[in-house]
Amino acid sequence: MRSQNVDEILEVAQEAAVEAGSLLAEKQRTDFKISKKGPVNLVTEMDLMAEQIIVDRIMERFPDHQILAEERGSEEGTTPIKWVIDPLDGTTNYAHGYRFFCVSIGVEVEGKMEVGVVYDPICKELFSAVQGRGATLNDSSIQVSKESGLEDSLLCTGFSYGDDEIAENLKLFNRMMKSSRSVRRDGSAALDLSYVACGRFDGFWELSLNPWDVAAGSLIVQEAGGKVTLFDGSPYTIYDRECLATNGKIHQVVGNGLVLAVG
Ligand code: IPD
Ligand code: CA
Ligand code: CA
Repeated sequence: MRSQNVDEILEVAQEAAVEAGSLLAEKQRTDFKISKKGPVNLVTEMDLMAEQIIVDRIMERFPDHQILAEERGSEEGTTPIKWVIDPLDGTTNYAHGYRFFCVSIGVEVEGKMEVGVVYDPICKELFSAVQGRGATLNDSSIQVSKESGLEDSLLCTGFSYGDDEIAENLKLFNRMMKSSRSVRRDGSAALDLSYVACGRFDGFWELSLNPWDVAAGSLIVQEAGGKVTLFDGSPYTIYDRECLATNGKIHQVVGNGLVLAVG
């Protein structure tokens, strides 16, 4: 893609994420409607409003681009440029007034992630990355941590909504709790990945994710110098369910532990 196009796409992604995220933050303490998509999986009217804002901003500038957004699914376009959107990552947190959530917008071109933006409107932190150009937090460049010892690493994971995966998740959690400094489970995969990118976490894994959870964050980690693969180290795409993202230095040891724990 031409760099002028990339710059324009990045600008639209950042503006849309900040606009939608600011609305989410402003309305979190209001009486918005909450519905259930499954036994435990929530969706609020704010997920839908945030998604509408983002899609409107994209369509105003790029009416021929494709959309893959969590709440509306796929919308065809006439170019190979696909926007992969999670309008509110951390819906359960949001619905409970827990202030850890974000907007995640990734742009994929012919199967390759080119742009990623994650916005946390509570901390006013905007994580961005462009393929080959590095990653930033607000306007400063970010890098993954330099930690090479698993015992001194702070890890993070997420539990998906499926009941059948709880037992498997707990095996992984148990193993990593014993071998690392500690493990957090904060409830927003896109922010978890962004925290790996800026060195707050040394690694993150999750068993069952969707493309909109990881499109932006996986690029941000890689552009910050980190590594993203399947648990066994094989190549990763945003359409894979499992994800291991680390600073690179602890990658193999974490991956080996996860593979052993799931048997
Ligand atoms: C969820 C969050 C959570 C992760 C789940 C996701 P949502 O997304 O990212 O951290 O563990 O797998 O589904 O539903 O809040 O957009
Ligand atoms: Ca999500
Ligand atoms: Ca979501």
